Amino acid sequence: MSSIIEPFKIKMVEPIRFTTREERIAILKRAHFNPFLIHAEDVLLDLLTDSGTSAMSAAQWGAMMTADESYAGSRSFFRFEKTVRELTGFKHIIPTHQGRAAEHILFELVGGGGKTIPNNNHFDTTRANIEYSGAEALDLVIDEARVPATLHPFKGNLDIARLEATIARLGPAAIPLGMLTVTNNTSGGQPVSMANIRAVSRTLRAHGIPFFLDACRFAENAWFIKLREPEFASRTPREIAQEMFSYCDGATFSGKKDGLSNIGGFLALNDDRLAEQARNLLILTEGFPTYGGLAARDLEALAVGMNEVLDERYLEYRHACIEYLAAKVRSGGVAIVEPPGGHAIYIDARAFLPHLPIEKYPGQALVCALFEVGGVRGVEIGSAMFGKPHAATAVESFAANDLVRLAIPRRVYTQSHVDYLAERILETYAERDSIRGLKISYQAPLLRHFTAHFEPA
Ligand SMILES: Cc1ncc(COP(=O)(O)O)c(C=O)c1O
Repeated sequence: MSSIIEPFKIKMVEPIRFTTREERIAILKRAHFNPFLIHAEDVLLDLLTDSGTSAMSAAQWGAMMTADESYAGSRSFFRFEKTVRELTGFKHIIPTHQGRAAEHILFELVGGGGKTIPNNNHFDTTRANIEYSGAEALDLVIDEARVPATLHPFKGNLDIARLEATIARLGPAAIPLGMLTVTNNTSGGQPVSMANIRAVSRTLRAHGIPFFLDACRFAENAWFIKLREPEFASRTPREIAQEMFSYCDGATFSGKKDGLSNIGGFLALNDDRLAEQARNLLILTEGFPTYGGLAARDLEALAVGMNEVLDERYLEYRHACIEYLAAKVRSGGVAIVEPPGGHAIYIDARAFLPHLPIEKYPGQALVCALFEVGGVRGVEIGSAMFGKPHAATAVESFAANDLVRLAIPRRVYTQSHVDYLAERILETYAERDSIRGLKISYQAPLLRHFTAHFEPA
């Protein structure tokens, strides 16, 4: 079998700054043991997120140079709108500066007290926007997804029986819409099968409940469907993505992932009345409906990126890169969420650091250890992110898992970077017994992980 190579040449480079372990220990202290507070210049391999960190193509930069920056009715908007409409089939395409702005507008309109929004797993900003509106964000992912080691080809699937039970319990009037996040970032970048998308759509629509996709990683999800659902083996990623959207009434989208762009997003939907309300809110918070908080050059980059991301060679390489990293760390004995997802590997921090109780934030401790050993920046997806102190008792609740996500930016790092990364993970694993836990010394009331301060427990 021949190697799957990066399907691009490198035309522009950015130097990486190397640091010593002593320097990194000081950097960690200055950043209160929170990777979000580390200066990017001090990071050797930045795997904090795959969001907004893609390398753009020559075609994207070229399109940006010819953008039409008119306030209203810009040519760039119509190009963007056409691209998104051809892909998704939705009637109304409303640009936003990023995904969470689309979420905020949507849930300000349909959320509120007494409402519940089911999803496989809500991403943190989606959950926060729903809860901020007064509604409940309900996770109904299949049980297999809750156990990192369990193998399942579509661990992002939603449990249909629990969805039906939720509708029966609450009544359709309390559920303004249902969602699926593709791929399911929170539980490991795991894909959702077309069969599950169809079943969720059928179930919701039988009760008159609209169905929305959180479509940030629609192309990676389409690739998994092609690989793992025999019915789709000979279909193109574009055809598969189009079918995914065809079962929905709308979508929120962050172009910072499968838009291959550094900023941008949209809210897309078919409902005329809701679209009108959304545009009115957009004008209040984001901008006029033909730019929605973006420069026209960003709309151009997105329009090109959303086509490039569906290239089979690109998706094959993207998938191979994650599989290659997963195989290397797995062979060294490190437990990860299996099978690996589409944009990252997720290390099971509780298995990596069994001597640390969950009260000592093993995920956050492992993030810091990886930075100290190799200058690698990852992010905790566990109790620092999803746990919270109970308002009345101040007793902390903890997440079901403590994972460390190492997200691979798109088209940025080469195979030797991935080799270096795997070596540093295994080096950290060799020293795992000496890794100490952490405690929180400061936290904000919402989305605390972004700004929290930690100190050694
Ligand atoms: C699944 C998912 N939904 C929504 C968002 C929010 O998008 P943005 O960061 O553009 O606001 C993200 C971002 O990481 C995500 O992964």
